[in-house]
Amino acid sequence: MADAPARAARVLLGISGGIAAYKGAYLVRRLRERGIAVRCAPTRAAESFVSPLTLEVLSGERVYGRSYLSRDGGAGGAELHVEAAQWADLLCVAPATANTLARLSLGLADDFLSTAALMFEGPVVVAPAMHDAMWRKPQVEARVDALSALGVEIVGPVEGALASGERGWGRMAEPEAILEVVCRKLGVPETGVAPPAGPLAGWRVVVTAGPTHEAIDPVRFLGNRSSGRMGFALARQAALRGAQVTLVAGPVGRETPAGVRRIDVVSALEMRAALEEASSSADLIVMAAAVADYRPRKRADRKLKKSGADGLTLELEQNPDLLAGLASLAPQAMRVGFAAETERLEESARSKLEAKKARWIVANDVSRSDIGFDATDNEVVAFGRDGSRVRFPKQSKDELAGRLLELFAGRRAASG
Ligand SMILES: Cc1cc2nc3c(=O)[nH]c(=O)nc-3n(C[C@H](O)[C@H](O)[C@H](O)COP(=O)(O)O)c2cc1C
Repeated sequence: MADAPARAARVLLGISGGIAAYKGAYLVRRLRERGIAVRCAPTRAAESFVSPLTLEVLSGERVYGRSYLSRDGGAGGAELHVEAAQWADLLCVAPATANTLARLSLGLADDFLSTAALMFEGPVVVAPAMHDAMWRKPQVEARVDALSALGVEIVGPVEGALASGERGWGRMAEPEAILEVVCRKLGVPETGVAPPAGPLAGWRVVVTAGPTHEAIDPVRFLGNRSSGRMGFALARQAALRGAQVTLVAGPVGRETPAGVRRIDVVSALEMRAALEEASSSADLIVMAAAVADYRPRKRADRKLKKSGADGLTLELEQNPDLLAGLASLAPQAMRVGFAAETERLEESARSKLEAKKARWIVANDVSRSDIGFDATDNEVVAFGRDGSRVRFPKQSKDELAGRLLELFAGRRAASG
């Protein structure tokens, strides 16, 4: 088990090709003043307005420029769009041209920025900038509406002097206004010392995420397909809402969300030990990890060898029920479990509520391939100890995490 220190929030800043690109460069500086790490992704057109060298110097980080897909251009075979999307906590595109807005909303992936945007799973902020005649076009409006419907936050544009010398709606929002939205979404305080704001300010939240691996021998284990997405999204969204978050993570290669304390574990027993440490003062504990029910009774010290044609019998023993165990470990906390079911969702969720003395059981149907394990979306039903039943339609795990936390926070009084 290892504690990972909280790190600076990270923004991937897309800059597209308009005069306002110079304000994008200024935004880099303002973000860094707030202690936020920034990597820039200028489009090919943007590089005619602001040089990658300027962005590199201002950000102190590598720039994902036009050379991304060229043979000698720096990618060197690496999937930089994957790297950048996994690195960032938030994607901001400022300025966003009409062209870039359309590509983002249609899901095109024909340059670095659009490809990284399609990979990215966190919050997205977009600041359009264009001539007022372009902004008023129904096709632009349709693209902006589609982005909003996807949960993208659109900042501006505002009315004012346009690059053409005319006045109108289409001028990019001032960098300070964009900065405020970015900081709010990341939960970064204005001065770096103010107490966090948000509906979960003052809450201590513990989230478990990912699978557990139960060792058979030094190289083999019993595991499951949990990707950790749901738990990481819950941790990120709780931190964005001002909570003090501890994430107990099984073996998954995911970035730690900004401002979250992470404890890495491998097996169910390690997860229980981490929970013993983390949960005694928690207000809310969300058990989103897919903990193995069984572990091999014996872990071989050496790699098991093939012997004869008789096959191999593994003897398993039951792991402790971590959620049920929390009833005595953290009686003060609101305890929430996740239940992956393939049939009779409600019946088994309700019996788990009772057996594990949880306040909520969030059930999802893992027999469907478009939601649940390893998928980016999820569709769940939350069953409450008080008999309530709240259905959440299919949506991204990040959005769902936010909605679930709102549900838990709204019903905190009835904890236990
Ligand atoms: C001087 C100049 C200024 C421009 N300003 C804008 C602008 O503010 N907004 C916009 O949508 N397009 C603007 N354009 C057009 C874009 O540069 C053009 O659509 C380009 O293809 C955008 O590519 P990108 O979205 O990949 O950056 C401008 C073009 C020029 C030559």
